[in-house]
Amino acid sequence: MIRAILLFAVLMNLLTQLASAEVSVADFDSIEVFTLTNSNGMVVKATNYGAIITNIEVPDRKGNVADITLGYNDVSGYMNAVDKPYFGSVVGRYGNRIAKGKFTLDGTEYTLAINNYPNSLHGGIIGFDKVVWDAEIVGDKAVKFSYLAKDMEEGYPGNLNVSVTYTLTDENEIVIDYHATTDKSTPVNLTQHAYFNLKGEGEGTILDHELRINADLYTPVDNILIPTGDLAPVDGTPFDFREAKKIGQDIDQTDDQLSYGGGYDHNWVLNREKRDGELELAARLYEPTSGRVLEVLTTEPGIQFYCGNFLKGNLKGKSDKPYVYRGGLVLETQHFPDSPNQPNFPTTILKPGETLDSQTVFKFSVDNE
Ligand code: GLA
Repeated sequence: MIRAILLFAVLMNLLTQLASAEVSVADFDSIEVFTLTNSNGMVVKATNYGAIITNIEVPDRKGNVADITLGYNDVSGYMNAVDKPYFGSVVGRYGNRIAKGKFTLDGTEYTLAINNYPNSLHGGIIGFDKVVWDAEIVGDKAVKFSYLAKDMEEGYPGNLNVSVTYTLTDENEIVIDYHATTDKSTPVNLTQHAYFNLKGEGEGTILDHELRINADLYTPVDNILIPTGDLAPVDGTPFDFREAKKIGQDIDQTDDQLSYGGGYDHNWVLNREKRDGELELAARLYEPTSGRVLEVLTTEPGIQFYCGNFLKGNLKGKSDKPYVYRGGLVLETQHFPDSPNQPNFPTTILKPGETLDSQTVFKFSVDNE
């Protein structure tokens, strides 16, 4: 069942943000939070501000339910967040970094806002995480958010019609469907930026979580977190998650790549046995005390594993507990960072007449091992 709840309480607060956010009053009047529930008592909440998933409530192996995604109690929390953690949002038009905010397409050079010096990150200053999307309830288990990113918005060419649909299934899956069309060729890379802590949001670090990533290769970066262009083997490096291991196991090794990222903040090249466009397991996350498991399946070629290196404990979330250093991790299914400047990476250019269709599934369960 879906309940749409208008957030009257936050509207006054939101109105004070208009000058900085540069969006219209009418947009803010339409902010809603949608609640999806399933037959197992799992609850997912999402808002059309930034297409943010605000809550994911799932049982542990004893049946105790906890909210395992980081975030705030009201939309104003997301708008005012210091350090811009992108909790729960859809990032776009281009997820992750574009080097120096520049790319050339069909002979024209485009310049984007530098919001993560010296690069452009996650779509620019007002990316898809900071705009109000249209919302539509679909059936009794899904909500669809749509947004028209205008030609040259944040420096990107083309009017881009984009939608994301969140469906909660009775198999405890959040199915995420992205869809986009454009009237001019443009780079597009959409991803979901939910932070997970399977013990519960605010319950310490994620270094004790066990992670497996289905990838033999990753894309090493330079010291400004731009891929070098190499596809490097994970074998023999701290980036080898082919067998499940604790995230904290190798994170303090002396390693240039770990020092550039301040820990893990890299893109893995997913192994593919199925055809492009088919769902395949990308990663499996397990937390031993609760027994909670998250499996991430995707049609995308890559996954950015970011382990919350920029969290510092100064943000307090939904239950007023500080989000400590490495207190949440993000598994961002995506095309590779900086692809518009990397001829060897799979293309991210969407052309007029084409349709971008991409699917990612977050599947929750418990393991009694
Ligand atoms: C991504 C980036 C990180 C960081 C986070 C947001 O995961 O790769 O470097 O910017 O988003 O804090």
